[in-house]
Amino acid sequence: MNDIVKPFTVIAVSCFLAFIGKAQTVPVYQDMSAPVEDRVEDALSRMTLEEKVALLHADRSYGAAGVPRLGIPENDLTDGPSGMRPEMVWQTWAHAGMSSDSCTAYPALVCLAATWNPDLGYLFGRSYGREAVYRSKNMILGPGVNIFRTPMNGRNFEYMGEDPYLTSEMAVSYIKGVQSDHVAACVKHFAVNNQETGRTTINTVVDERTLHEIYFPAFKTAVQEGGVWAIMGAYNKFDGQHCCHNRYLLKDVLKGQWGFDGVVVSDFGGTHDTKEAVENGLDLEMGTDLGSVEAFRRYKLADPYLEMLRSGEASMEELDDKVRRVLRMLFRTKMSGRQPWGLLASETNMAESRRIAEEGIVLLKNDADILPLNLSDMSRILVVGENACRIMSRSGGSSEVKSKYEIVPLEGIRTRVKDSVDVIWQPGYMSDATPEKVDSLRKEAIMAAHDADVVIYVGGLNKEPGQDCEGVDRQSFNLPYMQDELISGLAATGKELVLVMISGNSYAMPWINDVHALVQAWYGGSEAGSAIAAVLFGDVNPSGKLPFSFHKSIGDCGANALGAYPGDGKKVEYSEGIFVGYRWLEKKGIEPRFAFGHGLSYTDFKYGKVRIDHKRISADDSLTVSVSVTNSGNLPGAEVVQLYIGDKVSSLPRPVKELKGFRKVFLAPGQTAEVSFVLHKDAFSFYDPGVHRWVAEPGGFSVMIGSSSSDIRGRADFVLE
Ligand code: GLC
Repeated sequence: MNDIVKPFTVIAVSCFLAFIGKAQTVPVYQDMSAPVEDRVEDALSRMTLEEKVALLHADRSYGAAGVPRLGIPENDLTDGPSGMRPEMVWQTWAHAGMSSDSCTAYPALVCLAATWNPDLGYLFGRSYGREAVYRSKNMILGPGVNIFRTPMNGRNFEYMGEDPYLTSEMAVSYIKGVQSDHVAACVKHFAVNNQETGRTTINTVVDERTLHEIYFPAFKTAVQEGGVWAIMGAYNKFDGQHCCHNRYLLKDVLKGQWGFDGVVVSDFGGTHDTKEAVENGLDLEMGTDLGSVEAFRRYKLADPYLEMLRSGEASMEELDDKVRRVLRMLFRTKMSGRQPWGLLASETNMAESRRIAEEGIVLLKNDADILPLNLSDMSRILVVGENACRIMSRSGGSSEVKSKYEIVPLEGIRTRVKDSVDVIWQPGYMSDATPEKVDSLRKEAIMAAHDADVVIYVGGLNKEPGQDCEGVDRQSFNLPYMQDELISGLAATGKELVLVMISGNSYAMPWINDVHALVQAWYGGSEAGSAIAAVLFGDVNPSGKLPFSFHKSIGDCGANALGAYPGDGKKVEYSEGIFVGYRWLEKKGIEPRFAFGHGLSYTDFKYGKVRIDHKRISADDSLTVSVSVTNSGNLPGAEVVQLYIGDKVSSLPRPVKELKGFRKVFLAPGQTAEVSFVLHKDAFSFYDPGVHRWVAEPGGFSVMIGSSSSDIRGRADFVLE
């Protein structure tokens, strides 16, 4: 009997519990197995007018209300693109001085771009996203994707270079990485925010074709391929209207043409008009006014909006669209129930940060292969330069990171060489020194060089206002603090001289013919010094490529040459049009100091013949381009194979070449990889403002394969019918 009763009892009890369980079903918006859109509609239907409006504006410096009555959590945002900013006192921009918010400093995005490796973009985003989850943030305010229009822009270090295709590919990989942790990325700053001078008031004037070919692609790709969940409006005006509530940008293009279903966040303090904010597509207003609880009621999308709704001056449909977008982001993030366990400044995060820093380092020059340095050849290394010891991750504006630590270059070098070699340091220059002091520092460094076997100079820019810093543009294209004289003085000693430059922008190089090796190391984050040492001593074979052109002089840059930067304080007109970066240089036949896509290796790569599968194709066909690449040296290394398209005849002026594909291949000595690209008509098209769309014009084209934009290793011609 017992044998029968037992199973029966179990079944009966299970059914009863199941029935009770069903009877107590959770509301749809809390049901994590329900489709997001169903959860959005259910939550929306339960919210009061006041609760809806409260969702749309900040209630503290980096956050906005949820719906406490329904258990819908708050939105917690964090700067910046390369790691979390310190927690702030709730209604100020003052650091809270907490002991629990130290984190990993990842490399600046210009360094990520220099890796030309979308796998690292994904790794970067996923790694950073896990730290955000640990600190309960559901939106990170990055990536920044504004195009380098001039090397004078103080914020270029936060962005990904001068080419829309490279920026698009790297941004998409970063966004997918962040959002794989169910944290929202917030691509910024939309749009044409390419200088800091007058950034909150200047009216930017750009023609339609230039918008679509240069300044829109990274945002459009972020939306349509990256599926980005948030976008940040820029401070400046476009065509006379503030970007944070610009009808053309936000309603017509972003939400209309591109189908963006996420949240439009204002830059902090970038909202200036209630009616425009309501009607032109702003969804989440941040940073307008701080200081007290009442201050948050004064936000345009707070009480003023509530009054417009109550008086019937604003529609409920419009309100519900904004609320849906913010709810959707909450259900995609905190309420998804699918966030991973967070990590904070773990060995894993630090190792991932270091890997990106190592792969982003660009070897610009290496005469007589003096790099990598061989420790058995030397007994004393002199390191010169303030940047050898300067912490960079904790300043520069809103992208500042409360890094748990930052290994500076001198520490990285000392740790790497251990006690096998003497490593001495001379400042050579100090950013706060008087000219007299700089003179004596320079003389001391040059004297010390005579007793060293090799000199490693670590200089460049820093994150001070006027250098690589938000809010202010650079005042000079030259290196600051009399570095040029110092470098020339060190070169004159005749000692082997290796330059390691820390910066996010290019700079004049009057000494370039006097130095043996030049390494562009960017801002490498927590493991910057380790990454630099690994490259200098050959543990890592450098594989970075320049994401923007290094001009010989500032007059070689289109915007500057035309006097089209920084504008007259009221308006800036992009009169160079689509000819930005290498597009300008090649149009004018100007040699760069170092070309877009340039970067050397400790090994060599040989390219085979470029092959295409058709000599003639129709606009609806695809074209497959193949090339073999061989590591012909004796060290493992990585090469970035770059594909450029040139349109031989076109009804509108086109650049000599445009980047339309790239692939990073890792090869052992002697190994060959077969690389192929499948191109469609979008790769051959240009934007025709006459018909307001992209057109692929019939005619002859060249497909070029290169190791940089100026080092073309092969080409093939075809005809588009
Ligand atoms: C800043 C920046 C933006 C940042 C925001 C919050 O002024 O322009 O990139 O995310 O405000 O600090």
